[in-house]
Amino acid sequence: QPVARIAVIAGDGIGREVMPEGLRVLEAAARRWALPLEFHAFDWAHCDYYLAHGQMMPSDWKAQLAGMDAIYFGAVGWPATVPDHVSLWGSLLKFRREFDQYINLRPARLFDGVPCPLAGRKAGDIDMLIVRENTEGEYSSVGGVMFEGTEREFVVQESVFTRTGSERLLNFAFALARSRPRKTLTLATKSNGISISMPWWDARCAEAAARYPDVAWDKQHIDILCARFVLQPERFDVVAATNLFGDILSDLGPACCGTIGIAPSANLNPERRWPSLFEPVHGSAPDIAGRGIANPIAMIWSGALMLDFLGGRSSCDARWRAAHDGIVRAIETVLRDGPRTPDLGGKARTTDLGSAVAAALA
Ligand code: NAD
Ligand code: IPM
Ligand code: MN
Repeated sequence: QPVARIAVIAGDGIGREVMPEGLRVLEAAARRWALPLEFHAFDWAHCDYYLAHGQMMPSDWKAQLAGMDAIYFGAVGWPATVPDHVSLWGSLLKFRREFDQYINLRPARLFDGVPCPLAGRKAGDIDMLIVRENTEGEYSSVGGVMFEGTEREFVVQESVFTRTGSERLLNFAFALARSRPRKTLTLATKSNGISISMPWWDARCAEAAARYPDVAWDKQHIDILCARFVLQPERFDVVAATNLFGDILSDLGPACCGTIGIAPSANLNPERRWPSLFEPVHGSAPDIAGRGIANPIAMIWSGALMLDFLGGRSSCDARWRAAHDGIVRAIETVLRDGPRTPDLGGKARTTDLGSAVAAALA
């Protein structure tokens, strides 16, 4: 059983508050299922490091992390002191791109006990997987501001969609849809208005679909797709999207399920050439940081996704999958009967939920 080396990067704001709860649950799971986890904490990739060093990470960050099996990541961003594009392009977006984590897998599920903002929905009615392209698309650094300060000033920023990048994303999404009972995929697009790249993206999807004839699929323009997330969320199973559309849908889906405080994500390099990264969908939440009331479930669920992925290393062992399933069951139990943080309508603290999930595991 090879040891799994996990880099721990807490980041900023509530990242520092939810990380200890994620680790508490991972340690409980490691004891219960005898998993050989080894944690390595890195005190960089946060805004105080930037203020002290003029960069978000040491210059050899890639060498320090490349030998890890996974990165367990809190959240980065403290816009009061460092502009967001500087902190994020100096850390998280570097990880995604340099470690070729081209899949960003983001589940959204309605749980028993979580108040749903949509009328008439019960647990299980919403259960979707958003598969977000994570290395290209609208997130490019190609472009610039010209004639700055003159009346001719303009700005251009390109979107870049590669054939390889689109095909691997869509193949992954179709294979995932095939593995699920409903075998259904929805493509997020905007090929009516974005007249060059988006028809091309639709064509890549049609090609991928031909390789998965048993998966039912349709394409929906992003505007009506957002409306249907709110009006008919139960119809969605796997939703494949470009980087920006996937970003938006992966806050909207969890919001339709009651809170973004429980939404996890897996930034995957499926070939395992580089470490994959597991983090909440949410950010550093400066508005509640320092008060000990952030919901740690997104961090904890992300840890479960990490164990599941680690279990798929060469010597596949059912204990990793069992640990994932056990953590998800413990989350279900706590959301149904346990303490609630304010985003869930309660008064409980971050540590109360972390302890409750760890106790439910034992
Ligand atoms: P945010 O996700 O941090 O917060 C949005 C809202 O949701 C806030 O009201 C916040 O209090 C609430 N919220 C978020 N997580 C919560 C939790 N676990 N429990 C309870 N409530 C929670 O988004 P934002 O305000 O747009 O961004 C704040 C900072 O985080 C910015 O610097 C932004 O760039 C950064 N950010 C980082 C990541 C990341 O590291 N992956 C993701 C999103 C935003
Ligand atoms: C996310 C975040 C990031 C993104 C930001 C912080 C750059 O919103 O992980 O969803 O847009 O990908
Ligand atoms: Mn986002």
